[in-house]
Amino acid sequence: MSFYITTPIYYVNADPHLGHAFSTIVADAAARARRLVGDDVFFLTGTDEHGQKVERAAKAKGMTPQEFTDTISGSFRRLFEHLQISNDDFIRTTEARHTRASQEIWRRVREAGYLYKSKYEGWYCTVDEVFVPETQLANGRCPDCGNAVERLSEESYFFKLSAFEGRLLEHYDKHPEFLTPEARRNEIVSFVKAGLKDLSVSRTSFKWGIPVPDDPGHVMYVWFDALTNYLTAVGYAADGAEAQKRFQTYWPASLHLMGKEIVRQHAVYWPAFLMAAGLAIPRRIIGHGWWMMHDAKMSKSLGNVVRPEAYTKVFGVDAFRYFVLREAALGHDANFTDEAFLTRYNSDLANDLGNLASRATTMIHRYRKGVVPYPERATEDRAEEQALRARLDVVIEAVRSHMTESYLFSAALREIWDAIALTNKYIATREPWALAKDPMKEGALNTALYHAADALRIIGALVEPVMPSTSERIRMMIGLAQSDVQPWKDLRAGGLIAGTVLGATEPLFPRIEQTVEELQNMSEQPASPAPGTQPPAVPAADERITIDDFMNVELRTAKVVAAERVPNSKKLIKLQVDLGTEQRTVVAGIAEVYEAEALVGRTVVIVANLKPAKLMGIESNGMVLAASPDGGKPVLLTIDQDIAPGTRVR
Ligand code: MSP
Repeated sequence: MSFYITTPIYYVNADPHLGHAFSTIVADAAARARRLVGDDVFFLTGTDEHGQKVERAAKAKGMTPQEFTDTISGSFRRLFEHLQISNDDFIRTTEARHTRASQEIWRRVREAGYLYKSKYEGWYCTVDEVFVPETQLANGRCPDCGNAVERLSEESYFFKLSAFEGRLLEHYDKHPEFLTPEARRNEIVSFVKAGLKDLSVSRTSFKWGIPVPDDPGHVMYVWFDALTNYLTAVGYAADGAEAQKRFQTYWPASLHLMGKEIVRQHAVYWPAFLMAAGLAIPRRIIGHGWWMMHDAKMSKSLGNVVRPEAYTKVFGVDAFRYFVLREAALGHDANFTDEAFLTRYNSDLANDLGNLASRATTMIHRYRKGVVPYPERATEDRAEEQALRARLDVVIEAVRSHMTESYLFSAALREIWDAIALTNKYIATREPWALAKDPMKEGALNTALYHAADALRIIGALVEPVMPSTSERIRMMIGLAQSDVQPWKDLRAGGLIAGTVLGATEPLFPRIEQTVEELQNMSEQPASPAPGTQPPAVPAADERITIDDFMNVELRTAKVVAAERVPNSKKLIKLQVDLGTEQRTVVAGIAEVYEAEALVGRTVVIVANLKPAKLMGIESNGMVLAASPDGGKPVLLTIDQDIAPGTRVR
C-alpha cells in the first residue's frame, strides 16, 4: 500500500527548535513504522520560505530573502539529518517546481470560478501570517500569538471559501477519521458551522511570494502557496511520465501531521482549495499538542526554546527521540523539563533497556561462547516461557497498531517497556547465573538464554521507528546483520535462529551521573547562529528595527520589595520585585555598585517578558535595566515620578 505522510513546512524566519523537530520526529517514526509493515512510503518535510515575515527577517539581517532562506533552510535540513530523519524529499517553496505547481492550482481554481478580485480591508498578523477579524482582536493584538497586528487595505484576490461550508461539514461527518483528535475535530466543525467568510489569497504590498498568474502585481497569500507544497513534491504539474506516476501513486496524501494551531488551514482551507481545483483531498489530518516550557508554548518569539542539539550532544539522538515521543501524548501538550529528561534517560534507557541488552547478550557470551543455544524441549513450555512469548506477541500487535494506525507513540513505548520489564523479570526468575553453576541444568539455562535473547531481538525490532540507531546496535549485538532491519510482518516470539553468533556487547546507554543542576542551563543555550547569519555589531541604517520589534520587548516598572546579595557572588543581587499583578525574583549584576538594602522601595525598569535564566542556581524572571558602559559600572535606570508598579515603559 502506498503511504504519503507530511510534516508542516517550517517558516525560515529563525533556526529550528524542539517544536519543529517534534513534528518531524513524529512523522519520521510513523514513516519508519509504515515501512516496517511493508508500505510504499513517501515522507515529506521542508521549509516555507515566502511571506512578509520572512522578507522582514531577511532585511533585519541585511540579507536578500533568498540568501536568508538558503541559510535557515540549511539549518533545518542539517538538524533533520542529525536527528536521523528518513524523509524521501525536502521541499523548499522557493524551488521552481513549486512555483509551477502553485500557479497551476491557482489557474485551476480561477477557471472553476472560485477566485474574484476585491479589496481587503482589515487586520493582519505577520507573525502567524493570518488575517485577523476585527472581532477576534485581543486588546488590539493577535489572539493567537499576542503580537501587534497591522492594518491592511489593498486590492486582493478572494477565494470563495463560503461556497464550501456544506461540503466540508458533510465530509467531516462522513469521515470521522479525517481529523483527529476529537477535540480538534469539534473545534473545526464549530468553526465551519459558525459560517465561512471568503478568504483573501493575494497580497500587493510586498514582493516575496509566488506571482499570481497573469497578474504579476499580486503575490499569493503565503498559505495558498505553502499548502500546495504537498502537491508539488509528488509531481503535481510536473512534466514527464515519472512525475505523473508519482502523483497517481501518492495523491491524495495519507496523513498530514501538524501542530494544533494550524489545523484550521489544513482541515478547512486546504480541502476547500483542493475541491475547488477538482483534486482529491487528503485522507487524514492529525493536530498534535505543543511542547511547553515555563508554562508557555515553546516558541521563537517567547525565546523559551529547547535546541535539540544541546541534548543530543550529551544523551545521543535516540534518547532525544525516545524522550519526546514518550513524554508527549499526541494531541496533548507536554512539558519539557530537564528532570524528566534525566529520569527517563537513566531509568528507562540506561536501566531498563540498557541492562536488558547487556545482560541478555553478556550471558550468552559467558556461558555459551557467544552462540545462541537451542531452547530445551523439556523446559521451553513452562508457564513463564509461554507467558513471555504470548506477551511479546500481544505487544508486537499492539505496537504495530499504535505506530501505524493511531500514531500513539507514547502508548506504543509503554507497551514495549512493559515487555522489557517482563523480560527483565523473567531473567531474574530463571537466574541463569545460578543455573550455570549446575551441570544438570544446562538445558534449562539454554532455554532461559534463548528466551532472553529472543525477547531482546523483538524489542530491538519494535523500537526501530523511534530509536533507529539503537535498533541497529541491538541487531548487531544479537548477531543479525546491522542493515538487516526486521520487517514486522514476520515478527513473532520464538523467531531467533539458534546457532546465531552474537556480535560484541556494548553499553547502549551509559548512565549519566550529572545532576539536573549541571544540565539545567542546556535548555537556555541559544543555538550557535549559522555562518553568515550573525548581525553586524552596529546595524546599518536599513537594518533598523520596526516599532513592532521594539514592542516585542515588554518593559515595565517594578518596585523592589526585598533584596539580598547572592552568596559567593561578587556581582549578583537577588531582588524580589512587585509588578502590580505579581511578584517575581530577578537577579541583577549590580552588587559592585549598589547595596542590597538600599534598593528596597526603589522603582526600577525591567524586561518583563524575558525567558527565565538560572544565575548561580537562582531562577531570574526578568532583567533589570541599567546603563552599562563597556568595562564600567552599571547605573540603574530611575523613574522621574511615582508610578504604579507594572506600568508599561514605551
Ligand atoms: N509555515 C507554516 C506551516 C505551513 S504548512 C503548509 C508554519 N510554520 S512554523 O515554522 O511556524 O511551524 C509550525 C509547526 O511547527 C507547528 O504546526 C508544529 O508542527 C511545530 N511546532 C512549532 N512550535 C511547536 C511547539 N512548541 N510544540 C510542538 N510543535 C510546535 O506554521
